[in-house]
Amino acid sequence: MQVADFFDKHRFSSEIDVNSLLSEFDRQMTAGLAGNIDSLAMIPAFVDVNKPVPTEKPIIVLDAGGTNLRVAVMTFNGVGQVDTANFQKFPMPGTTGETIGKTAFFDAFAAFLQPVSSYADTVGFCFSYATEITPELDGKLLRWTKQIAAPEIVGEMVGSSIAAALEQKTGRKLKIRVLNDTVATLLAGKSAGISRQYDSYVGFILGTGTNIAYIESNRAITKVNGLNPNHTMVINVESGNFNGAPASDFDNRFDASTADPGIGRFEKMISGAYIGGLGLSLLKCAAQDGLFSQKASTALLAMNNLETKDFDDFVANPFASEGALARIPFTNDDRRTVIALGEPLFIRAASLTATNIAAAVMRSGAGRDALHPVCITIDGSTYYRTRSAFFKSRTEAALRAILSPRGVHFDIINVDDAPMVGSAVAGLIA
Ligand code: BGC
Repeated sequence: MQVADFFDKHRFSSEIDVNSLLSEFDRQMTAGLAGNIDSLAMIPAFVDVNKPVPTEKPIIVLDAGGTNLRVAVMTFNGVGQVDTANFQKFPMPGTTGETIGKTAFFDAFAAFLQPVSSYADTVGFCFSYATEITPELDGKLLRWTKQIAAPEIVGEMVGSSIAAALEQKTGRKLKIRVLNDTVATLLAGKSAGISRQYDSYVGFILGTGTNIAYIESNRAITKVNGLNPNHTMVINVESGNFNGAPASDFDNRFDASTADPGIGRFEKMISGAYIGGLGLSLLKCAAQDGLFSQKASTALLAMNNLETKDFDDFVANPFASEGALARIPFTNDDRRTVIALGEPLFIRAASLTATNIAAAVMRSGAGRDALHPVCITIDGSTYYRTRSAFFKSRTEAALRAILSPRGVHFDIINVDDAPMVGSAVAGLIA
């Protein structure tokens, strides 16, 4: 069977109908803001981007990502730079293979905070999961993503629970301000790009998971009562859960093999926690359909998992001597097939990524004047490190192809440690 027939048979296409995807994003964004959530939660962040950031005041920053947990004390100096002290990195609780209970989870966070707890009275807590935020910036976890094994935390208020665990341990009470990593990334872009006079800001992450935040008029956030209609608010879209992208058999098979089928369908097509697994589901399906030599098929069908890095490295260089796929006895024809199968997955991911970013930029209504573009701050290892199919430049080209004809001006920037810097901003202005 030819690769093209194989893709048809399994309803996979690397080409995206951008217009229909953009309008589905927009429809679901409107619905989410009205409280009629289809797949986009559209979570108000209760962060006012127009407040000035106090300088020379230290703040504790806690950054809980999909793999690592980082702690530091940060201070903005008068010249727009941020000093970082007492930096520490730990594995994120719930990622080390065992399920962790509620008390142990919050105690672990309290223990991470304890050594720095006397340096400031506020913590900017970057919590990179779907979390409903209160006006006081506490956060209730709606659901886990990134396969974190801590089911008892769902529904809990994470900021006040960690503060309570720390108080019990040390007698010290800290204010913990919770925000999403995309919101933090947006804020980091705002503080880094202050001199450019941007019209609006977007924060996009493509790492272990994916998501986007943008600035919305309060008038459109009809699900929240009492907001000043003349002000704006950062919205965490939770776009990783978008269900509007067409799914192939590989997507469906892979989704069914994860711990949370049905959740994060968009994220499972594009982000680092999943592309490898999706790639393996594709390769196995191809092995079953006879696209590989006998020996390679047998070895592929025996594989249990495939990391995104190994998959990407091998598609980019099918003679790679390291990584899980290097151990498969591929012939050179098999290697050609790996490229022909693997690259389209990354090509599709680049188009989906660009469409997601464009949907948020268009929704902001900003950037119509070349003098004041929209500032898109992008963070995440998958975005910057994926090698296959010229991933990053392909995404940027696709974004230009969508936004330029629509008269939207934009800039893409990268801020070092954006989630941490933005969490410091949020904690300081809260
Ligand atoms: C989470 C989002 C987060 C994104 C990027 C997703 O899995 O649901 O809250 O912003 O990953 O880290």
